[in-house]
Amino acid sequence: MSTPVQNKQLTSVSVRPMREPDLAEARRIVRVAFGTFVGAPDPESFQADREYVFTRWRADPGGSLVAEANGSLAGSNFATKWGSFGFFGPLTVRPELWDRRIAQSLLVSTMDLFEKWEVREAGLFTFAHSPKHIGLYQKFGFWPRFLTAIMSKDVNKRDASSTKYSALNEHDRAEVLSACRQLTDSIHEGLDVTSEIRSVWDQSLGETILMWGGDSLDAFAVCHCGEGTEAGKNTCYVKFAAVRPGPGAENNFDRLLDSCEALAAECGLRRMEAGVNLGRGGAYRHMLQRGFRTDIQGVAMHKPDSAAYNRPDVFVLDDWR
Ligand SMILES: CC(C)(COP(=O)(O)OP(=O)(O)OC[C@H]1O[C@@H](n2cnc3c(N)ncnc32)[C@H](O)[C@@H]1OP(=O)(O)O)[C@@H](O)C(=O)NCCC(=O)NCCS
Repeated sequence: MSTPVQNKQLTSVSVRPMREPDLAEARRIVRVAFGTFVGAPDPESFQADREYVFTRWRADPGGSLVAEANGSLAGSNFATKWGSFGFFGPLTVRPELWDRRIAQSLLVSTMDLFEKWEVREAGLFTFAHSPKHIGLYQKFGFWPRFLTAIMSKDVNKRDASSTKYSALNEHDRAEVLSACRQLTDSIHEGLDVTSEIRSVWDQSLGETILMWGGDSLDAFAVCHCGEGTEAGKNTCYVKFAAVRPGPGAENNFDRLLDSCEALAAECGLRRMEAGVNLGRGGAYRHMLQRGFRTDIQGVAMHKPDSAAYNRPDVFVLDDWR
């Protein structure tokens, strides 16, 4: 893939799939770009305990894009396919090259990927206070809707009423993936996060917790644990969690979060982190009652401008970062 785009001061920018030799520089650019944007004192070491680039590339090299400008790496973006739903990020450009339409070159290719994957809806998480970010994504048909809160709390001792994906044999793992797919499909048609469960398992990033009600799966949570994952040091991060809709959903959500905390304690982690869209009013209120506090908030932008699975009765945790 190569998408030459004429650019303000640069002769041309081309976009191609990320390759292994790009990873270290792409990771440096991700840190320096976010570190610069938020005004961190040492941008190069911004959130250096968290990993996105190596892990997402390993999970899906085809969804990882780089932009080259004048022969060197200028930025990158990661597209993720969750079945019928797609999202992208982290999208970053080297700060000295900002405002030269490099992000837009990456986004053109990202939209091509969504089209190829035939996703029905797409989304992203961005800085709600930044007119540049909102304006940039609106150009590609994304519309700002509810805030998404990134919340955290200290880990308390809890009882787990769940099983672990890592304890299953190969045959049972295949069945569980299908049960997870059925559960998410019952929330939003075609939603499928098996790639996240596989990535955590294949790369030893954490654990997937499974909560059963008799023979059927009531809820599951894909957790990243500790440094070198999306969680970072001392943290258990719920990358995605979902509860089967119905009258028992809130109670099952509570039990699922107990199991996530029990996992964190077992791994010696002191902090829980999870994102929830405020359009999921029931889940958000429950997180507050449980003692989660918001550390940062951004806005979810949707394409098309409709709720997707950010609805009041949906007990899902994720944040599209
Ligand atoms: C956000 C980021 C990726 C943008 O990259 P970039 O290459 O500078 O962006 P581009 O030059 O392609 O696009 C900028 C666009 O923003 C929009 N924009 C800027 N200011 C705007 C404003 N006040 N109102 C509306 N739109 C605005 C314009 O559409 C502009 O495009 P134009 O050149 O056609 O006018 C880059 O600044 C970055 O790496 N930031 C730090 C990390 C980050 O925040 N990543 C995104 C997280 S969601």
